[in-house]
Order: sequence, then C-alpha cells, then structure tokens
Amino acid sequence: MILVFGSLNVDVMIGVDRLPQPGETVLGPGYQLTAGGKGANQALAASRAGAWVTMVGSIGTDPLAETAIADLRESGVDLSHLGRVVEPTGLAAICVDKAGENQIVVASGANRRTAARQVPDALLGPEALLVLQMEVPLAENWSLVARARAKGARILLNAAPAGAVERKALGEIDWLIVNETEVQQVAGHLGLKVPGSAHDAARLLAREVGVTVIVTLGAAGAAACLPDGSGLAVPALAIKPVDTVGAGDSFVGGFAAAIDRGLGLAEALRYASVGGALACLKTGAQPSLPTRAEIEASLPQLPALKAL
Ligand code: RIB
Repeated sequence: MILVFGSLNVDVMIGVDRLPQPGETVLGPGYQLTAGGKGANQALAASRAGAWVTMVGSIGTDPLAETAIADLRESGVDLSHLGRVVEPTGLAAICVDKAGENQIVVASGANRRTAARQVPDALLGPEALLVLQMEVPLAENWSLVARARAKGARILLNAAPAGAVERKALGEIDWLIVNETEVQQVAGHLGLKVPGSAHDAARLLAREVGVTVIVTLGAAGAAACLPDGSGLAVPALAIKPVDTVGAGDSFVGGFAAAIDRGLGLAEALRYASVGGALACLKTGAQPSLPTRAEIEASLPQLPALKAL
C-alpha cells in the first residue's frame, strides 16, 4: 500500500511563445485548468501504475477543491484522510513555452495546513510505502517520517521543490529522489562540500547519510547512487517532449508503484524512467500520467541499465 503525504493543487496552464523575464508580461492564447500538486500527481501516477494508494493532504471548501481531487477520485485513490480547511485550495500558475520549458509559481493555500496527525498509525506499518515531497510544512514531514520509521514503513522522499532536509530525517528514509538542482541543495544544506556534477553530489550524499539517492537527469535519464558506493545509470526513452510538467512526479509515482509491487531497484528504475518519459507527451501534469499498460508497452524500448 502506498501512502502519499503531500500537496494538492489546481494548475492554471498557459502556453506561451517564450517564458517571461522578471517584470515582463507575455500573452498566451488561452489556458487549461487541471489538477496538480506534487503529492496528488505522485499519488495518481502510482495509482495509474496499478498500486493501491491513499492520499493525505488538505484542500479548501472552495469550488477548486473538486477540480483538485477529481482525477484521484476517478482512479480510486483513498481520500478518506484528506483535510478540508478554510484556506483556499492550492493553486499553481504554470507557463509552458514552445520548447516545453516551464515556469511554476505555487500559492500553497490549504497545503499549509497539512499535518502529520491526519495520518493514523495503522497506515504506517511494514506493508506501507510512505511517499513525501516538500510542498507541505516541512516540520510535519519530518515528524511523520520519524513515526513511519518507528512503525516499520518504507519511506521515499522526493525533495522537490528544493529545500533543506533534516539530517535526522534523511537517515530515516530509504530512497531520496531529486533532480540536478535539488541534489546540490540538499547536500549544500547539510554543510557538505558539494562537488560540481549531480552524479558526484549524489554519490557523496548517499555515502554521507546512508540512503539510496536517485537523481533524475531529464533527457539523460537518471542515476542511482547506493550508500556502498555502487551505482546504476538509467537511460531515458527517446521522445519529443510536449510539456515536462509532472514528469518528475510520474517518475516518483512509477518508482513507488514498482517497489510496492515487489520489484527490485533496477526494475523499479526502468519502470520509473519510462513513466517519466511518457508523462512528457501531453500537456498538463495529471492528464499526462501513464497507465500501467502504457508503461509496460514501452518498457522493451528502454535501453539496458549500466553500472556507474
Ligand atoms: O511537479 C509539478 C507540480 O508542481 C504541478 O502540478 C504544480 O501544482 C506544482 O506543485
């Protein structure tokens, strides 16, 4: 069972010719309102990939709340521990340019009220895989991580958006998934002398805190660095991206679903890499998340993993 503790948003997606500079206004022809939020995206990605998923987070009592949870509900994600609070549902303003590059600003709203106490102890046993990100109050994240570790759950942290992760919490998780910027920031916040490359930073972090660090590298795939110094280079599918919003969430949700199903690290990384790539083929975070059948149909096209 996968338990996602994190954010739910509504995304306002605007296609533009180019992203605005500071102080600049750019025009786009229209917009799309879709469900988003890193937590909700990862919960939906894992659910579409075939896992049983519970989503814990907070939404408002405003009309956007229904938009935020519609896809999760349709996919059968358990929403019984969602909080309804007076703050408005989280909202993300997302611009995507013609090359598929994006710029995102999030108004956290209701996500700021998400609390670890919403999660009953009964959901944190050894059969649980807890998935967290960094869009809810971080103190609540770390308190839940400590409880989950004590109760025997496995823990996956996606340190996005980048920020400081407590050293104690890092020592209690099983997998850390980060992109190239986030790995440098997590290592930097620990006071480590951060090497230039994402690979080196991940290797150092894995050894220093004793956790498997997985760095996503966009079109270059991903790299996994284990605490014993070994590692795996994960290739990416060759695709023409339309919009990369939600690709990282698809990677995380796919990885979690594969681990939850009992696959080993190498197979789970392959699954995640294909899931991440397929999420770049449509506009919007949740509309683009692939199903288990879609991921499995593309897996044979992924080149083999290599030792790092
Ligand atoms: O990772 C993409 C997500 O980041 C978007 O759905 C947006 O809501 C922000 O949380």
